[in-house]
Amino acid sequence: MTTTPSPDLTDSLRNRRAPLDLPPDQFRAFGHQLVDQIADFLASLPSRKVTPGEPVQAVRELIDFNRSLPEQGCEPGPLLGWIAEQLFDHSLHNGHPRFWGYVTSSAAPIGALADLLAAAVNPNAGGWKLSPLASEIEVQTIRWIAQLIGYPADCGGLLVSGGNMANFVGFLVGRRKTSGWDVRKEGMAAGGKSLRIYTSQETHTWIQKAADLFGLGTDAIAWVPSDSDQRMGTSQLRAMIEDDRRRGYQPLMIVGTAGSVSTGAVDPLDELADIAAENDLWFHIDGAYGAFAAALPDASADLRALNRADSVAMDPHKWLYAPLEAGCVLVRKRELLLETFSYHPPYYHFDPELTNYFDLGPQNSRGFRALKVWLALQQVGREGYVRMISDDIRLAGELYRILPDYPDLERLTHGLSIVTFRYLPPDLRSRRGTPEVGEYLDDLNREILDRLEASGEAFLSNAVVNGRFALRLCIVNFRTSLEDIEALPPLVIRLGEEADRARRTS
Ligand SMILES: Cc1ncc(COP(=O)(O)O)c(C=O)c1O
Repeated sequence: MTTTPSPDLTDSLRNRRAPLDLPPDQFRAFGHQLVDQIADFLASLPSRKVTPGEPVQAVRELIDFNRSLPEQGCEPGPLLGWIAEQLFDHSLHNGHPRFWGYVTSSAAPIGALADLLAAAVNPNAGGWKLSPLASEIEVQTIRWIAQLIGYPADCGGLLVSGGNMANFVGFLVGRRKTSGWDVRKEGMAAGGKSLRIYTSQETHTWIQKAADLFGLGTDAIAWVPSDSDQRMGTSQLRAMIEDDRRRGYQPLMIVGTAGSVSTGAVDPLDELADIAAENDLWFHIDGAYGAFAAALPDASADLRALNRADSVAMDPHKWLYAPLEAGCVLVRKRELLLETFSYHPPYYHFDPELTNYFDLGPQNSRGFRALKVWLALQQVGREGYVRMISDDIRLAGELYRILPDYPDLERLTHGLSIVTFRYLPPDLRSRRGTPEVGEYLDDLNREILDRLEASGEAFLSNAVVNGRFALRLCIVNFRTSLEDIEALPPLVIRLGEEADRARRTS
């Protein structure tokens, strides 16, 4: 039985005015205002504190944290203008010239505009017909990234949220390809043998999440010791594979790192590729941070050996300076992505001859991440990226070079654009190897890191180098200049002296 809607309802549906819609004139006005605010914010970055370092309570007060969900709406223009100012004033600014923490880059401004455009058009880059131009732009972006780092340009690949996800995809393709049985259908237990993954102790913690999430368990990770340069020891690797085989384990894959998260170390990738080939193992490289350095004309032989990997992960939101989020994975044989991820449910009607990204990765609906990467690659070209990445590396090298001019600072490591060092009070220099002084120095440098963060004058993170707590600078920041780098040693010494004095007098 059908019922006739009331005339009122029919009218409101016929002339529907949804509360979420913005009439074009309002959209234009709010958008112009926001872009003006962002332009001013970007210009103001150098004069701001890197982070306001406010306590959680103060941050919550800004948004009246405990209030309930609003029942009625409000004026969007003022709301947007207000939250923009709050974000500018109460965020950590990884776009600040003196932000050097973790592996987090300054974001290309064109990427911010790209995200606005991508959200406005809102293509679903899961299926080709839902995103014809966006899908082709992603395909082209993947090819350009491969060309940039010297990986075979006919590879498969896709953009994902970041390094963890990119590594997961490589891991899953390797698991499916090398396990020797149908893991997708039969599950992990079906093989009857314990699988082993070989990687160095310097590998980022994604590897534990992968082993855990994808059913191998973290005991499947064989941690290969690193040498004094934090590079995977290849003789130990060979011995461990042999030993595992004797003990009835099934070696599955080798995971090398191009630019370790702590010190920027690059594993002996060429030799790892040989060992993987000799043993019929999958060879995956985590290049989340360092892979783009393979684009430099003077890239080391090991970085250039990226092109021997079966799969490589890298993060455009690191050294391509894309705004978060943008990770990327390349797989030498494109068909393996399909073999790892594809299902064809009856409710899908997509042309299999075209690129349907839901078929090539774990996501179904997908946003248009490629646009910000594609635009930036064209804004500056290969030449621009080579210049920015090598400037970052040269600036880190400059810090490493000048550190010995400051006897109160002990320099520890330099790899790609990462430098580690620590503050060392003059009277403790000769006793730094003793356990008590070692512990004191660890605590002291931990406090210096906190004081630096609280000062807002610069931002570093930390690493543990040969058991010692170290201050760690990582430049993936196109705004950093030599002046910024030269300001760091005196700043750390000042904070170090203050912290040391406070500890000794308390
Ligand atoms: C070497 C390495 N691998 C993986 C990751 C994880 O990347 P993401 O944070 O984008 O997931 C990082 C992050 O810094 C990294 O440095």
